[in-house]
Order: sequence, then structure tokens, then C-alpha cells
Amino acid sequence: MNAKEFGKQGWTPKRIGDLSGKTYLITGANAGAGFEASKILLSKGAEVLMLNRNENKSNKAIDDLKKQLGAATKVSFIKMDLAQLSLVRNAAEEVLKTIPKIDALICNAAVAQISKQDFTPNGFESQLGINHYGHFLLINLLFDRVEQSNGRIVVVGSEGYKMGLKTIQFEDMNFDKNYHPNNTYCHSKLAQMMFAYELQNRIKEANKSVSVYVCHPGASKTSLINKDASLMTRIMWSILSISPMVQSAEKGAYPEIMCATEDHLKEQAYYGPTGRSNWVGPVGECKLEPFVLDRTVAAKLWEVSEKATNCTWNF
Ligand SMILES: NC(=O)c1ccc[n+]([C@@H]2O[C@H](COP(=O)([O-])OP(=O)(O)OC[C@H]3O[C@@H](n4cnc5c(N)ncnc54)[C@H](OP(=O)(O)O)[C@@H]3O)[C@@H](O)[C@H]2O)c1
Repeated sequence: MNAKEFGKQGWTPKRIGDLSGKTYLITGANAGAGFEASKILLSKGAEVLMLNRNENKSNKAIDDLKKQLGAATKVSFIKMDLAQLSLVRNAAEEVLKTIPKIDALICNAAVAQISKQDFTPNGFESQLGINHYGHFLLINLLFDRVEQSNGRIVVVGSEGYKMGLKTIQFEDMNFDKNYHPNNTYCHSKLAQMMFAYELQNRIKEANKSVSVYVCHPGASKTSLINKDASLMTRIMWSILSISPMVQSAEKGAYPEIMCATEDHLKEQAYYGPTGRSNWVGPVGECKLEPFVLDRTVAAKLWEVSEKATNCTWNF
């Protein structure tokens, strides 16, 4: 799906019809692209369940959305911290008890550019632990419900996948020897994307019916670069943010909503802004570097991730 196929502006939410009766789950939806994605989906009549780690921020986000869209807006949240696998399990259990249908599970939450090596309570380097392992487990636990709903899974990647190491560092997943805020973030986003493409392959091989799509938000003005990033990174980002190289958080949400709602998208593809450096511009299909589709690396990553998260896939 070339951006031009959607017209000069590329894909925009104008293409979305009435979403009444549809339910979308979004991780990390109290801020940034996830919040904007929630707003757009809700404005089209959908129900949105946010999976967020912070109760106060979540309540505020829900208040804001209701103020803007009306008190009857169907938005709620379940507390989930992707850093703690037991809490991901608890949240998934609650979802399975309370949400009968998942039209799309949008894996949007992330941390980035953490200045010093940090660990999740499960002992994983924090960016890999939160961005990849947390979502790996969540997708595993909710997969059957998504399939029963004839739904889809959306993985929010990053152009960073082609920066950094460009492969998975199996010999040192925690970066004990070579921690670097950007390389390590890029490694986690590459892991998310490689898993998503391998999931597409295995779904097909197992004759399952879930679609999986991968996108990126370009460079968007969100809260991703925060106090956990180095001072230099924050200064550089705040300068970039006021330039035309960076777009709004709302525009950053378009690719994930497109992947959650648009028909006839291709798998083994990668969607996002297609303008300058893929940071801004009309949303459509972006070039995907072939190393992301390396099935040998992906199979090993799958195995390592199952072990790390203590979960197994039955296909
Ligand atoms: N912004 C960009 O330019 C850019 C570029 C490339 C890729 N991306 C990707 O876009 C996606 C959205 O990020 P964003 O830019 O919108 O950033 P953001 O404004 O920081 O939003 C990230 C969300 O993830 C949540 N989160 C972080 N750690 C979590 C955890 N342990 N458990 C549950 N939720 C957690 C955050 O919650 P709190 O509010 O509690 O921290 C927040 O709601 C991410 O996947 C990111 O990698 C962004």
C-alpha cells in the first residue's frame, strides 16, 4: 500500500468509517501516540481499553477524553506494567474475564533512550524487558481471544530498527558489555519487529487467522524522550521537536490506527510516514530492510523470549 494509493495526504483517519461495536486494546495509551490513537478510535465510536502502568495518569487521560468526546465515551483502563511479567499476566487475566472481543491489540507502549543500563524486576535490560518481552508475553496470553474475534495485532516499531546493531545480541541480551542508550533501544525495537514478522509466518504455517501488522510513528512530539534520557539527548530532541523534521503526536498515531482499521494491508510490510527520512509525511508503506525478516535469527529470538517470559506458544 503505497502512500499515494491513499491520495496526496497518504492514509488519514478520514478513511475510517463507523467503529461502533469494535473494541481496541492499546498499551501505553495515557500519553503520546497511544493517547492520540485512543482519541481518534473513540471519536469514530469504538470502545478503547487502555493497558497503562500509571493509575493517576490513566484517570487523567480518561477524564480528558471524556471532556473532549462526551461522558458516554467508552474508554477504560486496566493497570499493567510491562516491566513485570507477573503484572502482565494479571492484566491479561483481567482482560480475558472482562473483554469478550478484541478487534485489535495495539502494542504501542515503550521506553526509550534510557541513559544508564537499567533492569526490570525480572532482571532484563529495561528497554528489551518492557518493549519486547512484556509485549511478547501479552500477545501470547491474548492471542486466542484476538483470533476468536477475527482480530489483529499491531506492533509499533521504530525507524531505529535499522540503526544500532541490526541483529539480536544473543550473547549479551542485557548489554552488560556494550550498553548504549540508543543502540539498546534500537535492539529492543528490532526484537519487537522480528517477532512480529515471525509471528505472521507461524500464524500462516499453523493455518490461524490473526493478522499482524507492523508500523512506526516517524518522529513525533511525544513524551518518549523524558527524564530517563541523557541531558544531551533531551536538549537535542527539544531542538528537533520545534523543527519541521518532527510531527505532532496525533500524526504519529496515524500508522497504528491505520494498521488497526484499514482493510487489505500487506503483511511482511512496514507502514509509517514516507516523507523526509520517514520521520514525517504521508503515511503509507515504507521500505523494510531484509535483515528484519531473517528467520534463523527470529526463531532463536522466539526461543529466547519464550524462556525469558516463561510462556510457550502452542503453534
Ligand atoms: N515519538 C517518536 O518519535 C517515536 C519514534 C519511533 C518510535 N516510537 C514508538 O512509538 C510508540 C509510542 O511512543 P510515544 O512516542 O507515544 O511515547 P510516550 O509519549 O512516552 O508514550 C509511551 C507510553 O508507554 C507507556 N509505558 C512505558 N513503560 C511502560 C510499562 N512498563 N508498562 C506499560 N506502559 C508503559 C508510557 O506510560 P507512562 O506515561 O506511565 O510513562 C506511555 O503511556 C513506542 O512504541 C515508541 O517506541 C516513537
